[in-house]
Amino acid sequence: MTIDLDRIRADTPGIADTTHLLASGSALMPSCVIDAVVAHTRLEGQIGGYEAQASKTKELDAVYDSVARLINASAHEIALLENATVAWCHAFYALPLKAGDRILTCEAEYAANYVAFLQRQKRDGIVIDIVPSNAHGELDLDALVNMIDDRVALIAITWIPTNGGLVNPAAGIGKIAAKYRIPYLLDACQAVGQMPVDVEEIGCDFLSATGRKFLRGPRGIGFLYVRDAWLEMLEPAMIDHFGAPWIAKDRYALRPDARRFETWENSYALRAGLGAAVDYAMEIGMAPIQKRAWELASHTRRLLNDVDGADVKDLGSEQCAIVSFTVDGLDPQESVAALRKKSIAIGASRPSSTRLDSEARDLPTVFRIAPHYYNTEDELERCIAALQALR
Ligand SMILES: Cc1ncc(COP(=O)(O)O)c(C=O)c1O
Repeated sequence: MTIDLDRIRADTPGIADTTHLLASGSALMPSCVIDAVVAHTRLEGQIGGYEAQASKTKELDAVYDSVARLINASAHEIALLENATVAWCHAFYALPLKAGDRILTCEAEYAANYVAFLQRQKRDGIVIDIVPSNAHGELDLDALVNMIDDRVALIAITWIPTNGGLVNPAAGIGKIAAKYRIPYLLDACQAVGQMPVDVEEIGCDFLSATGRKFLRGPRGIGFLYVRDAWLEMLEPAMIDHFGAPWIAKDRYALRPDARRFETWENSYALRAGLGAAVDYAMEIGMAPIQKRAWELASHTRRLLNDVDGADVKDLGSEQCAIVSFTVDGLDPQESVAALRKKSIAIGASRPSSTRLDSEARDLPTVFRIAPHYYNTEDELERCIAALQALR
């Protein structure tokens, strides 16, 4: 199946105004997503927020089915939450880790996750151990196996880091986690929307993701997947009377599904937008989306190879749609601001987003270009030329 680029670009109003090459930040929404958010908001304005929700119950419930289909899960294993960090934290803080328990994580781990590890290290006395990377920069599966002992209580991995093209071996890690019966929490924030994601194939117990990045949904919405077998065992760190109805004066009862991690009040407009984004991506097909986005990223790396003083920093034996690099004489943050004035959107990634990796490789702030399937080779060429013109 190939991509109908003309149709896709016609569906993407933002391309008329901007050369947007930052799907790893917040991608351009297709019209159907914008329309879904606006239509629900209008309905709220017309008949009231509660009434709008009540009149769209079926459609809003179907968002869980859509998200479940996207990752090959069941709807009752999905919680819709504000963003990927909230989703990840809900799983992480629900795990009953105690003093001496070890967490195995990776060099590419995202800052938000790592500070949560540090908090539980301080508060609960857990131990954080970093699995070294192999020669390609991917988590080393043999090293992971060698580090396992009775005290390992969690494997928590970032699949694709925020700062580059690396793709960690999520499914290989899942096999090891399953063999040793260790809970496996996967940060799939940068993976969902740019490639097929199948929780059965990966074998993760928990997976977190966001709407606004490669999935092309609105900002302010994300989701958590919790494997069925875990659902009844996890007590959320925070509850309200939605996730845990107050059934007697002295008792609450947690919901049996993943929605025990949700609270009563939500943005139904954003949920509608998320559902539209998932359905749109599924209609195009995750495999063709991945193929085109990854090819455009390879094209970007080839263009950068011809730029004097440019140094591509991406790790991994196969590289995804996030391209990281430095250019001699160019400050990424200043350059990003300068390009924005020319309506070209790229990003910069600071060492503090991925401190373990950045310090190990002595990385400065790097440029980040993340093309998506709706971009063109032309846009990339224009962007690299504009970057060169800043010198
Ligand atoms: C790898 C990774 N994980 C998690 C997050 C956090 O996502 P959110 O901002 O939706 O909480 C990001 C955001 O950039 C990310 O790149």
